[in-house]
Amino acid sequence: MSKKIMILPGDGIGPEIVEQALAVLSAADSKFGLDLEFSEGLIGGAAIDEYGEPLTDATLEAARQCDAVLLGAVGGPKWDKVEPKIRPEKGLLKIRSGLGLYANLRPAILYPQLAEASSLKPEVVSGLDILIVRELTGGIYFGEPRGIRTLDNGEKQGFNTYVYKESEIERIARTAFEAARKRNGKLCSVDKSNVLEVTVLWREVLDRLAPEYPDVELSHMLVDNAAMQLVREPKQFDVMVTGNMFGDILSDAAAMLTGSIGMLPSASLNESGFGLYEPCHGSAPDIAGQGIANPLATILSAAMMLRYSLNGGKAADAIEAAVSKVLDEGLRTADINTDGCKKVSTAEMGAAVVAAF
Ligand code: NAI
Ligand code: MG
Repeated sequence: MSKKIMILPGDGIGPEIVEQALAVLSAADSKFGLDLEFSEGLIGGAAIDEYGEPLTDATLEAARQCDAVLLGAVGGPKWDKVEPKIRPEKGLLKIRSGLGLYANLRPAILYPQLAEASSLKPEVVSGLDILIVRELTGGIYFGEPRGIRTLDNGEKQGFNTYVYKESEIERIARTAFEAARKRNGKLCSVDKSNVLEVTVLWREVLDRLAPEYPDVELSHMLVDNAAMQLVREPKQFDVMVTGNMFGDILSDAAAMLTGSIGMLPSASLNESGFGLYEPCHGSAPDIAGQGIANPLATILSAAMMLRYSLNGGKAADAIEAAVSKVLDEGLRTADINTDGCKKVSTAEMGAAVVAAF
């Protein structure tokens, strides 16, 4: 039976990088007989321009009928002035919550070929391989009430609500414990339990589950310290688990350790293993349309999609090996380029990965 993939290119560099990932997926399909079937939809600014909203119910429903979703990125200055309710990023939040994609897996791996592209010294980052597990459908990004209100004295006050139920904490914690079990057995949970009650509960739930995973060593860290430790000694971490907002910030910081956010894939999964796959970066309006964006984060996201949602582990390995080979050959998009390497365009990088199969 064919495997249906919904493609949502989005805005900015989204369509450019997704095009390359599609070429790689097609190559993987021919080589491994995966029987992939693609359909395309609009999200973000592209959907606002066409339908007046960043994700229609029809597109969401079409995505639900597929086996996986591959997304580019959304947003850009063109839509900065639209009312907050229909901003491009609301399309992302809607698809994440609509499909129940609560587990966001963000590996931060330093390819040895890119040690010089990292912002940190090679000895601090060489061999870096962290997995950040971020809760994606709860926390302060979704909590109610929220808004901007006018106080009695006429002054405006903005407010959001940081909430987590035990069940929401437990399911993301289990994802993280399971992931740690398959890796090096170390899990660091990040919270702000010295200030925020919601994360006192977070910590309690993690501690309650820990005895079920005796092979995993659980530790806790406050988020401000975690930010510092990520930059000071990142290799102390294996799997990190945290809430939506802290995970958003820490995973971007971890991204820079690997040289460029243009290298980092992500998977967002629900309880049944259905997943949405996208690069960690945004739509990069500053370089959109120039053909210079790095397509590797999206190509590696496609590999994660094959592995986690489409039973294509071998094809995923082959894609990752092809990426590594291309880096060995010295090909670099501008964001990861260093002296002595060959600077290539988005399309040239995609074609090189296809050729390296
Ligand atoms: P961004 O990730 O788009 O860009 C940050 C910096 O990284 C820029 O200098 C950009 O040129 C560079 N960059 C990003 N991806 C790259 C790639 N593949 N190759 C080379 N360089 C790359 O974040 P920014 O600038 O904060 O946001 C831009 C827009 O993207 C905003 O509208 C924002 O809301 C949206 N956004 C969307 C996300 C998504 O769709 N998941 C995530 C983050 C931001
Ligand atoms: Mg972010």
